[in-house]
Amino acid sequence: KVIVIDFGGQYNQLVARRVRECNVYCEIYSYKTDLEQIKAMNPKGIILTGGPNSCYEADSPTYQKELFELGIPVLGLCYGAQLMMHVLGGKVETPEVGEYGKTEVMLDQSCALFEGLASKEICWMSHFDRIAKTAPGFRVVAHTADCPVAAAENAEKKLYAIQFHPEVLHTEHGAEMLYSFVRNVCGCAGTWRMDAFVENSIKEIREKVGDGKVLCALSGGVDSSVAAVMLSKAIGNQLTCVFVDQGLLRKDEGDEVEEVFGPNGSYDLNFIRVNAQERFYSKLAGVTEPEQKRKIIGEEFIRVFEEEAKKIGAVDFLVQGTIYPDVVESGLGGESAVIKSHHNVGGLPDYVDFKEIIEPLRNLFKDEVRKAGLEMGIPEKLVFRQPFPGPGLGIRIIGEVTAEKVKIVQEADAIYREEIANAGLDKSIGQYFAALTNMQSVGVMGDERTYDYAVALRAVNTIDFMTAESAEIPFDVLQKVMSRIINEVKGVNRVFYDLTSKPPGTIEFE
Ligand code: XMP
Repeated sequence: KVIVIDFGGQYNQLVARRVRECNVYCEIYSYKTDLEQIKAMNPKGIILTGGPNSCYEADSPTYQKELFELGIPVLGLCYGAQLMMHVLGGKVETPEVGEYGKTEVMLDQSCALFEGLASKEICWMSHFDRIAKTAPGFRVVAHTADCPVAAAENAEKKLYAIQFHPEVLHTEHGAEMLYSFVRNVCGCAGTWRMDAFVENSIKEIREKVGDGKVLCALSGGVDSSVAAVMLSKAIGNQLTCVFVDQGLLRKDEGDEVEEVFGPNGSYDLNFIRVNAQERFYSKLAGVTEPEQKRKIIGEEFIRVFEEEAKKIGAVDFLVQGTIYPDVVESGLGGESAVIKSHHNVGGLPDYVDFKEIIEPLRNLFKDEVRKAGLEMGIPEKLVFRQPFPGPGLGIRIIGEVTAEKVKIVQEADAIYREEIANAGLDKSIGQYFAALTNMQSVGVMGDERTYDYAVALRAVNTIDFMTAESAEIPFDVLQKVMSRIINEVKGVNRVFYDLTSKPPGTIEFE
C-alpha cells in the first residue's frame, strides 16, 4: 500500500481517492505519526500532502529527514514539496505574489511522472510560498512564468516534489501523474479492486461471525444498505436488520426500502420494519427549536431501536456503516481540522446488548462504497441515493413538525426530484431537495385569496459537504417545478429558490 501523510491540506482525502482510482490501496496518517510506525507498515510509496503553513517557521508541521532515506519513493505535493526541499537542504521563500488557479506549466517529459504528457500542461496552483532553491541532488523538471521550481526530482532516490496539485481535476493530466508515481515509480501492482474487496470482505465476515447473531440498524441510506447486503451475503439470516420508519423519510421511501430488503426482496436476512411515525410526531408536537428537534429525533430513534433489540435479545455483533471519511474526520487518521458531529446512529452501541462492532466499510470512500454496492447487485436507485440527514425531513420543515407538513414537503420534494431527473440534472448536482418554510403569505388562486406556505428549493454542488455553492438550474426547469408544486401540492402558494452558499448558509435549513 501507499501512505498519504497529511499536513492539514484541504485536499488530503482527494489525494487518497485519486491513488485508489489507480487501483492502489492507500491510507491517510497524520504527520505526527511515528517514523517507526510508518516503517512497520512497509509502504511501497509515501505521499506528503499540502498544508496551510510555511515550512520554514519553527512550529510548522514537519517530518524528520530519515523519512527520505528509507529507500521508499516519496512524492511531496505543495506544502509537502516545499517541506521535502526544506528538510533536505533546499530553500523555501515567500515571494511577493503567490499563484492561484489554473496555470500553464512547462514540463520536462524526461521526468518519470510526466512521461507521455505534453511539454505544456494546465495545472492547478494554490500557494503563497515557493521553492527558491532545490535541495542537493535534485533537478528542476517543471516551471511556470512566476514559479521557477514547479517540480523537482531526485530520480536516483525516487524523491519527487510537485508545487501544483495533481489531485485536483483542474490539473488536466494530474491523474496520469499520480498513476505514474504509484504504478511506475513505486511499482504498485494495481490489485485494489472492488470485486476482490467485496469477495474478501464476505469471506472475512463469515470467518469472524461464525454462527453468531448480527444486528444492523438499516436506514435505507447508501452506507447502511451496502453494509447490510454484504453481511447478508456472508451470513444470510443470522443477520437481522431493523428499519425504523420515523415518518420523516422522503415520499414512498419506507416502502422502497421494504421492497428491497423485506420478505419479498432479494436478500436473505430478517427484516423488521418499525412504523413509528405517530410516536415521532407526538414527541415533536409543539417543538420549534432546531437543536431540540434533532435531539428528540435522535433519542427517540434510540428508544425505538432499543425496544426492538430487547425483543431480539443478546446478539454477538452490531453492524455500523462507518466509512473512511468518518474515520479520518474523527481524527483517527489524517490531520483534518474538521470534526464531524453528524452521526446517523449516535450513541447506539450503549443501548444494545452486543459483544463487538463490525464495520465492513471502514476503509472505503463513498464512491468505493457505491462501487461495492453495484458489485453486489444493489439497485442503482439505491446506490446513487443522495445524502439524506439522519433527522430526515424533521430538519427540512422549519418550525414545528406535523404530519400535514411532512406530507407537503414530501410531495413538493418528489416533484422537484422528478423534474431534476427529467432535465437530466440528477447525476450532476451534489444534493438537492425541497424544504418547507414556516412562512405563510397571501396569494391568489383562481379568483380566491389564499394564505398558504412557502416551499424553498435547495440545490448545491460540493466536494466535501463542508463548503458548497448553490447550483445553477436553468430557469425554465425552476419555473416548471414551481408551477407543478403550486398546482399539485395543497397548502403551498409560493416557491423560493435558495441561492445561499455554504458558508454562510448550511446545506440543510436547520
Ligand atoms: P449541513 O446542513 O451541515 O449539511 O451543511 C452537510 C451535509 O450533512 C448532511 N447532514 C446530516 N447527515 N445526520 C446526517 O447523517 C445529520 O444530522 C445531518 N445534518 C446534516 C446534509 O444533508 C448535508 O449533506
